[in-house]
Amino acid sequence: MRHAVAEPRHDVPVGILEGRVTGLSGLSVSLSGLRDFTGVGDRVTIFGLDGRETGAEIVAFRDDTAIAMPYGSLEGIGSGCRAVFHLFDQTQRRRRAGGTLSINGSWQGRVVDPMGRPMDGKGPLPPDGTPQRLHAPPPDAALRARLGPRIDLGVRALNLFTTCREGQRLGLFAGSGVGKSTLLGMLARNTDCDVAVIALVGERGREVREFVEDDLGPEGLAKSVVVVATSDTSPLMRREAAYAAMAAAEYFRDQGKSVLMLMDSVTRFCQALREIGLSSGEPPATRGYPPSVFAELPRLLERAGPGPVGPNGKAGQITAMFSVLVEGDDHNEPIADAVRGILDGHVVLERRIAEAGRYPAINVLRSLSRTVPGCNSAEENILVQEARADLATWEEMQDMVRLGAYRSGNDPKVDKAVRVAPAIEDVLKQSRGENATIAESFDALRGVLSLHETS
Ligand SMILES: Nc1ncnc2c1ncn2[C@@H]1O[C@H](COP(=O)(O)OP(=O)(O)OP(=O)(O)O)[C@@H](O)[C@H]1O
Ligand SMILES: [Mg+2]
Repeated sequence: MRHAVAEPRHDVPVGILEGRVTGLSGLSVSLSGLRDFTGVGDRVTIFGLDGRETGAEIVAFRDDTAIAMPYGSLEGIGSGCRAVFHLFDQTQRRRRAGGTLSINGSWQGRVVDPMGRPMDGKGPLPPDGTPQRLHAPPPDAALRARLGPRIDLGVRALNLFTTCREGQRLGLFAGSGVGKSTLLGMLARNTDCDVAVIALVGERGREVREFVEDDLGPEGLAKSVVVVATSDTSPLMRREAAYAAMAAAEYFRDQGKSVLMLMDSVTRFCQALREIGLSSGEPPATRGYPPSVFAELPRLLERAGPGPVGPNGKAGQITAMFSVLVEGDDHNEPIADAVRGILDGHVVLERRIAEAGRYPAINVLRSLSRTVPGCNSAEENILVQEARADLATWEEMQDMVRLGAYRSGNDPKVDKAVRVAPAIEDVLKQSRGENATIAESFDALRGVLSLHETS
């Protein structure tokens, strides 16, 4: 016989656990009274002296004390303040750990913070939708679809030299001011995808507005979801921006859509993890980054890529571009190294090229996509190889040629590179408003190479 008791609702707390603030240091708060029922990743609410509520997350335990970090400011929180944890049915713990966001189709065209609150003054977002876990694990490797067909990125230099397939993940390595935001805006507008999800992590407030209004523009925004945590927000918020954007990308992927995920920047995400790790007592290991950063980074990046195959045999895809800041052209700093090892390719933006006025300032010789040449036709592969060879010869010889130390006629390979390289450079140039499909990109390159073949 069944008991005549209603099924427990998993979204309604079954009880409240109350703790107290016992200390504050740096960015973290010590809380007593929460043991036995709480774990790392649980969210608590702290009531400040003035009654103001601040959300916080448990990041560590020291003996019986929980160490929490606030999502907002610590102002007004003092020793003895109340901290409340909502106890849900423990069987739901795995589904709730790390928080959820109710995401739905109306997020497209909106700018939100990591908690899903609007930041664009366009009114509240309807709260209905499937709760998406912010810290979801990547899809099971055995159930994941293969990479999809070739994806049109709408940028000639990328379509030609780092051709990508749907579900591929690339790193974008660049110093400051060399054209990252402009390129990401072009990708959001031009890429042949259903939805673009853009995470802006740790940018200055002014840059966010410039990105949304100038780089993305109304046309790009219409098909995008932008998740923002600026540099003045707490490290937890900056970390959550990356996870919230990933959760949004997964929501659209699970509907079978082709999603483009752009993250600017994964370096700032790692810096947020560093601040969290250090204030919860982890030791700094590699250039100040605690070990947890290198454990957590692949967990985030692996979530992008092909989705699980659905019952209809199809799968959504998250094609992703993660920007990495390389200051002082140090391409070997630990985050750049770790990201390069995890992803399926990289695009390098170079200051030297930007200074010469060629935008986007992509060094195609140093950029690489691991799915090339498999995704191109034989003729396309030959064109790309030929262009790469010409550019490489030109790079090696240009100083000699400019100084007059090379005499034309000495080496036909160099003679051809001298003729062709500037024309290939012209193909790589692209203004921000221009869109170039894969076919148009190859036509342009084919035109240049065949012209110089006969001359
Ligand atoms: N495709 C392009 N065509 C013309 N100019 C460009 C192009 N891309 C970038 N630029 C120039 O480079 C400048 C810097 O670009 P952008 O703001 O995109 O760089 P960034 O790497 O995002 O900079 P930051 O590190 O400050 O965020 C722009 O103001 C613009 O003048
Ligand atoms: Mg920028």
